[in-house]
Amino acid sequence: MTDAPAAPSDRTAPAAYPIAPLIASRWSPRSFLDREVPEEALKRLLEAARWAPSCYNAQPWHYVIARRHREPEAFAALLDCLSTGNRSWCALAPVLMIAVARTDFPQNGSPNRHAWYDTGAASALLALQAAAMGLQAHQMAGFDPGKAREALAIPEGYDPVTAIALGQPGSPDALAEPYRTRETSPRIRRPIEEFGFLGRWGEVF
Ligand SMILES: Cc1cc2nc3c(=O)[nH]c(=O)nc-3n(C[C@H](O)[C@H](O)[C@H](O)COP(=O)(O)O)c2cc1C
Repeated sequence: MTDAPAAPSDRTAPAAYPIAPLIASRWSPRSFLDREVPEEALKRLLEAARWAPSCYNAQPWHYVIARRHREPEAFAALLDCLSTGNRSWCALAPVLMIAVARTDFPQNGSPNRHAWYDTGAASALLALQAAAMGLQAHQMAGFDPGKAREALAIPEGYDPVTAIALGQPGSPDALAEPYRTRETSPRIRRPIEEFGFLGRWGEVF
């Protein structure tokens, strides 16, 4: 084990209104400790995803998981699907995943317009469960879905949606620039007045 020396500084969301502490504690690190995530922990994350709501309870989400220490070939294949930037910091993550959505309803084969939405909801719960367990999940759009389909044998009718890096956050000092600076930059969000409307579109709360 070559753990980076220090844990990252506090990344708790500076929320403008009080929110559940678990939500405030979730963030997307790029530096991870070189520490395996036990199988039991991964099962707990999938269990959290399992309890997401979904359109007609179709549960379109799937996860292909590769642990760097246990499935090194699958991990390397998954890493190879990532964009160059993401690959640089994901190489040391203990776990990589691809979230995959089934694009039709199992009960009648009609297109499921909400498959990605529901898969995102499941991944959000997975990320919150990770945070509750001292882990963090970093979701990524920066990967090649065609490459992932081929490398991971994802069948037609299932869309690779996001890649996810997972583990215990490590020290920002373990990262090269520009990622080191990003790891400690202030966490920012649009104010709720910009997206929460009252009664009709554009009416500021
Ligand atoms: C669907 C999705 C795609 C993302 N793609 C990437 C990505 O390719 N690379 C990356 O470094 N971060 C990616 N992120 C992470 C976001 O940049 C991050 O969630 C955002 O900056 C807010 O930071 P926080 O998660 O720490 O609150 C992605 C997040 C989501 C939800």
